[in-house]
Amino acid sequence: MKPRILVSRAVFPEVISRLAGHFEVDDNQADVILGVEGLKVRLADKVGALTAATDPLTAAVIAAAPKLKAVCNFAVGYNNIDLAACSGAGVMATNTPGVLDDTTADLAWALLMATARRLPAAERWLRNGEWKGWEFVQWLGTDVHHATLGILGMGRIGQTVARRALGFDMKVIYHKRTPLAAETEAACRATWVDKATLLRESDFLVLLLPYTPENHHLIGAAELALMKPTAHLINVARGGIVDDEALISALRQRRLCGAGLDVYEGEPKFNPGFLELDNVALTPHIGSSSRATRMAMAMTAADNLIAALSGQRPPNLLNPDVLA
Ligand code: GLV
Repeated sequence: MKPRILVSRAVFPEVISRLAGHFEVDDNQADVILGVEGLKVRLADKVGALTAATDPLTAAVIAAAPKLKAVCNFAVGYNNIDLAACSGAGVMATNTPGVLDDTTADLAWALLMATARRLPAAERWLRNGEWKGWEFVQWLGTDVHHATLGILGMGRIGQTVARRALGFDMKVIYHKRTPLAAETEAACRATWVDKATLLRESDFLVLLLPYTPENHHLIGAAELALMKPTAHLINVARGGIVDDEALISALRQRRLCGAGLDVYEGEPKFNPGFLELDNVALTPHIGSSSRATRMAMAMTAADNLIAALSGQRPPNLLNPDVLA
């Protein structure tokens, strides 16, 4: 009999077909959100799972799945997985780095441009029939070209965002704990600065770092106060890195010019204060959402699961200590 696996969310049929060649698949094409209790039930008899960043793979969930050998997230972020619990239970955990860098960088730029040029509010105004004619002073925005782009967290996606700045003749500065190697910096035309300098000098600050307990509210009232009142904040990383209440207050008081946000604290619920602001561009966590990229993510997760359950080391293993 084939090993039994769970696919926790609805995915493209091609992904299910591929997995069905190796496993007996319990799918969730109805896309019911399983949550802790649902995952406990559905994982009780499974040896593997393809999971999303929305699935809480807590210690309790892992403990309720005694046969489990591998959980393969179709996401680059893995703050939904308790890695220590996985390692303790002999469960391999994997993610999908690399395949979504370009698509996520594209969305960071889309939000940057949208907030700079006030596209959502201008479009709402036009749709509401309020456009009575061209005016000299109308919907003035912020120039992107020749501005300073700041990137906090300069991993693969941050570097991909930075490389796109060349076409806009931007100055690029970044902060991460360990500066990049000189040749990588040169390829990104980016200069390392300390965090306070990054906050003070960026015209557009893009957050691209993982959510960890240390990064909780990394951008709060004190950090926002360091930013220029003409600056824009873009978050395509994870909710919780920004203190949303503090951000709303800064945007409301125009201590910050604008924000482009794809992620929020407490998703899919989010602070309703954002809806009252006309200086935000808001998208519903769609950073990696193109058909090609979502397919690549799911197939990468499938590769990891197939490797893990056939006695090989999965290519994107997050907890190598599990093999010790
Ligand atoms: C999406 O948020 C991801 O982590 O891939």
